[in-house]
Amino acid sequence: RVAGPCVLVLFGVTGDLSRKKLLPAIYDLANRGLLPPGFSLVGFARRAWEHEDFRQIAYDSVKQYARTPFREDVWRHLAEGIHFVPGEFSDPGAFEALAMALKELDQTRGTGGNYAFYLSIPPKFFPQVVEQLQAAGLAERSAGSWRRVVIEKPFGHDLASAIELNDTVHRVFPEESIFRIDHYLGKETVQNILALRFANEMFEPIWNRSYVDHVQITMAEDIGIGGRAGYYDGIGAARDVIQNHLLQLLALTAMEPPTSFSAEAVRAEKAKVLSAVRIPGDLALATARGQYAAGWQGGVKVRGYLEEEGIPADSRTETYAAVKLEIGNRRWAGVPFYLRTGKRLSRRVTEVAVLFQRAPHLPFSETDTEELGQNALVIRVQPDEGITVRFGSKVPGSSMEVRDVNMDFAYGESFTESSPEAYERLLLDVLIGDPPLFPRQEEVELSWRILDPVVEYWAGQPTIDQYKSGGYGPDSADELMARDGRAWRRL
Ligand code: BG6
Repeated sequence: RVAGPCVLVLFGVTGDLSRKKLLPAIYDLANRGLLPPGFSLVGFARRAWEHEDFRQIAYDSVKQYARTPFREDVWRHLAEGIHFVPGEFSDPGAFEALAMALKELDQTRGTGGNYAFYLSIPPKFFPQVVEQLQAAGLAERSAGSWRRVVIEKPFGHDLASAIELNDTVHRVFPEESIFRIDHYLGKETVQNILALRFANEMFEPIWNRSYVDHVQITMAEDIGIGGRAGYYDGIGAARDVIQNHLLQLLALTAMEPPTSFSAEAVRAEKAKVLSAVRIPGDLALATARGQYAAGWQGGVKVRGYLEEEGIPADSRTETYAAVKLEIGNRRWAGVPFYLRTGKRLSRRVTEVAVLFQRAPHLPFSETDTEELGQNALVIRVQPDEGITVRFGSKVPGSSMEVRDVNMDFAYGESFTESSPEAYERLLLDVLIGDPPLFPRQEEVELSWRILDPVVEYWAGQPTIDQYKSGGYGPDSADELMARDGRAWRRL
């Protein structure tokens, strides 16, 4: 899989995402020989930069963040195709200049009129930019070429705005040209959920309400909001992470087997299962949220959310969110799916844990089995990527004591191939035009439909729980589990 001739046009080149993920991913693709010889990258931003300035920015970020080793010849070759067009999103002239620059690249570098426009910009600019692209004739492809637009999350901030955004983009680009990025789908371990479930015969027969007690999906981060106050405040953990990454993980874990790995087949199954997701009962009992307070993390004193630069002192935005969901279908009826995410927790871990029912009868004494937990299959998304199976085993010795043990699969031990970074995989898919790993609009809307009542309910609450940085989240999240006689897995 190698991309054909094309130009990637990057809007939002000065942002964190571009510097830390996109520019390094482009270099890594080049280094792995996956980009065509004439590949070109055009940055567009409101800066009075020359091509050389943008090349320097790209060089610095490649040096700092690229995954693959730095090779001068690869860089030099890539840099020849790096260009910059200065301009405001509101200025039609700037988009005309962009169109001219692209035409020139087609001639000088043989990029064939194939353009991918990557909008790594605040969502409020999406409509303006797609309309400018249309006005400058950039959305219309000539025969034999393609135009694609890549949209970073958040896709709206609720169902209504997501529909509106979609309508705007659709007025300009047809659905097959729209690539919505959820970078979790680019992660190896996330794609492996499908391989684990559907390339094997031993898991699927027990993957249902007859054997599964409940599922826990966790994305815990140790970092705070960093310099992202402007983006994060008013958005919060549920919109930032649950609406996209965690509901996608849920969909992959719970969906029915697709008939093929084609985009249509996979997306249709995900949409089916998302449309069956419900919040059981009272929102007050099925959800929990909190805000990090000051605390200690890794031996360093860190400030609370309300003390972060740019955050209003009375903000009620959540930095931790937990929600209990159920799936109304034959496979999952009555099996709770607990989702949680939070910033400034004790450590960084993302995992999907499927916890099985206890054995119906234990022929051993109670004292011999008191340390026995539930069987679990844990997909370790990151860090320490792999899969753990937890089961009971006899403790060596003269008694029949049974205790939990773990059987581990670790990527690093089983494979010599290194995993591409999520953005590397997804960028290549965009340039090739391969859509299975990109959510379609229906999934986006279904996810908002699940979450809208939760954020609305929270918006009506006068206070928000605090939790200590470096800890395990708010007490209310533990209480949510305790009400069901369960507990979160230890972070
Ligand atoms: C992003 C969220 O989508 O995912 C961030 O906006 C979060 O708030 C990030 O920190 C986490 O990504 P990863 O790949 O480091 O788990």
